[in-house]
Amino acid sequence: MVYHMPTRVIFGRGAIGELPRIIKESLRSVRSFLVTDKGMEDAGILRRLLEPLTGVPVFDEVEPNPKHTTINRAGETVRALKPDLIIGLGGGSVLDAAKAVALLATNPGRIEDFEGREKYKQPPLPVLAIPTTCGTGSEVTWVSVITHTERRFKMSIKGPLMYPAAALVDPDLLMTLPSHLVASTGLDALTHGLEAYTSKPANHLTDALALEALRLIFRHLLAACQDIAHDAEAREGLMLGSLLAGMAFGNSDVGAVHCLAESIGSLYDTPHGVANAVFLPHVMEFNLPAARDKYALVAAAVGLSAPDEEDAARALIRRIKDLSRLLAIPSFRDLGIPESDFAAVAKKSFENNSNPSNPRAAAAEDYLNILRRAEIATG
Ligand SMILES: [Fe+2]
Repeated sequence: MVYHMPTRVIFGRGAIGELPRIIKESLRSVRSFLVTDKGMEDAGILRRLLEPLTGVPVFDEVEPNPKHTTINRAGETVRALKPDLIIGLGGGSVLDAAKAVALLATNPGRIEDFEGREKYKQPPLPVLAIPTTCGTGSEVTWVSVITHTERRFKMSIKGPLMYPAAALVDPDLLMTLPSHLVASTGLDALTHGLEAYTSKPANHLTDALALEALRLIFRHLLAACQDIAHDAEAREGLMLGSLLAGMAFGNSDVGAVHCLAESIGSLYDTPHGVANAVFLPHVMEFNLPAARDKYALVAAAVGLSAPDEEDAARALIRRIKDLSRLLAIPSFRDLGIPESDFAAVAKKSFENNSNPSNPRAAAAEDYLNILRRAEIATG
């Protein structure tokens, strides 16, 4: 059994106050470069954070499902400025972008040249990851997912030197996160926990992290969505759950839910968390024969009682459907996937790197059936 996660994690309410010390003393940086998105400025977070970072150059053009062209543009900027640290401040897209930019800072070429595992020649620059959503897990994983817009494909760029050097995880940064983003990113974290726990590479260490993540997320997600600004306990519980789920899937894997979410994300720019939330119960129903025992264990961990494994697993699926409804997650129909594209989505999902990790072997035909079921369930 192997578990590898070299990122230094600093977690806690108000931890953002440690930022200057972490940059200067822990990471010994004298020339940082900030990667973020326009939303940070609107939320006022950037201004508050930038106070101790006066003079730090900023690239704030990262979009949801970050595009290879955006990353290559940021790469050119960073090579000209020659920083010694990349700070990523934002959601999963921003953190993935920060990792990719750190790679381009030390390696000539375009980001698409590094698709796959350990394609870099030089170690990327160190990254300080500061998540502002409660779902990504990217602050503690070795992968950066970048959309190649011409191929309409999500590239995975990964390697053991791509773990952020440090993750500064402060639940108070969620205070201004809109409710629909708490819901979708929280359900992304829940999906990370469930897929990490049931996927084929899972081991005892990732199981322990995933189960605790799921306990926390189930306990706090609804309350966090209702009033994240004033419910400090829910905010902290959900952020911790998201972090632990990232530490779980980073060393286990995700499965068919993410295969579908990444496929439709690359084709229609669907927000990652929303896509996961829509497909999660349908994939769980498909996975039931191979994951019944583990679903039952999750059900018990989150306080659902049932007479046997089958009932417990089905109670868990019902609970997730209820949660999605209460959180007003869009329906499959709202995603706007034309039926004529189902075969292409199914093929892309089957070809995803994580498909072999799914607990039940899934062929393209199985993905097609999951899509059809999701459509029928929409009514
Ligand atoms: Fe995810």
